[in-house]
Amino acid sequence: MRSSAPASGARRHFLRAAAGCSLTSLWTISACASVPTLHAAAQSGRVRLARQELDATFGDGHALLLQVDNLPEDIHVVRDAGGDLLAVGTTCTHLGCQVRPANRFFRCPCHGSTFTFAGDVVRGPATKPLSRYALNVINDYIEIELP
Ligand code: FES
Repeated sequence: MRSSAPASGARRHFLRAAAGCSLTSLWTISACASVPTLHAAAQSGRVRLARQELDATFGDGHALLLQVDNLPEDIHVVRDAGGDLLAVGTTCTHLGCQVRPANRFFRCPCHGSTFTFAGDVVRGPATKPLSRYALNVINDYIEIELP
């Protein structure tokens, strides 16, 4: 049975990291990046987020970095060209570096692989797409299903 509370019990933090990243906690330091970051706990194999908060946090062509307790990789939540929300893993399929959003693409800082916001490879050396997570819009919430 699904909970009606958004990310109930989840420790959630929105950060819009500033240049210089002068924040001090360990978690904050790990989230020091140019994308807003949300930390949430999964419930029953999924994460539920309020759409209103997402809309206020990032717009078209930008991404939200979602860190989920005990999930081996972080997730980028993005909007495609049509405005639909997508959930895409951050782990580069070449050698495992963390990709970063840049101008409607994900780019890997290690060897330059580039992926669409849907996770498809547009430039190697990676040959496989980023992992995709099912994302369902349910009334005023989105749910991301976890493996
Ligand atoms: S690890 Fe990403 S391109 Fe090599």
